[in-house]
Amino acid sequence: MSKQNPNDAITQKFVLELNAVLAIENAGMERLHTRIQESRLDEIKQQLQQHLHESTDHQKRLQKIIQDMGGEPTQEKSGLPLPVYPDIIWNMMSNSMTKQEWELKRAEEDLIVENAEAVCYTMLIQKAKAGGDMFYDTLESLSLNLKDEQHMIDWINNNLPGMLTRLWPSMQTNHSKDNSNDQ
Ligand SMILES: [Fe+2]
Repeated sequence: MSKQNPNDAITQKFVLELNAVLAIENAGMERLHTRIQESRLDEIKQQLQQHLHESTDHQKRLQKIIQDMGGEPTQEKSGLPLPVYPDIIWNMMSNSMTKQEWELKRAEEDLIVENAEAVCYTMLIQKAKAGGDMFYDTLESLSLNLKDEQHMIDWINNNLPGMLTRLWPSMQTNHSKDNSNDQ
């Protein structure tokens, strides 16, 4: 249980930061569901499924520490930090990229999202440490969440080259004919 006064301004600001990350996790879960549905590679499907379970734990940990600090866990979803391409480039991508290329592009986007989550947890841990005793109780949960994010980042980094090698032959032979509904 928190020893803080819920009305303390610093605590409220920290709760706000925790809720901001919770909103990213909430949005990330929605994206993971979509990715599991669409992925054509069994190993990435399984890894995404595992990370979905981990993300459920992330939500629960964040919800608990927010409540322990007297806050209300958000159910809102943030926008995810993914590139929004210029129309002209987006149209060319939509008209030319094969399913295999989209598979790689989505994996690239997975990596962007997971890195962003890791940055958020790293910053929260730094702020919690700066708060000393006030936020000490949050450190274990935040560190566990960061560890999962880092594991997911490492998995993608380690497996992207193999995915590229496997998809490359079909990327060379397949063209835009089969991808018009992919995005
Ligand atoms: Fe994540």
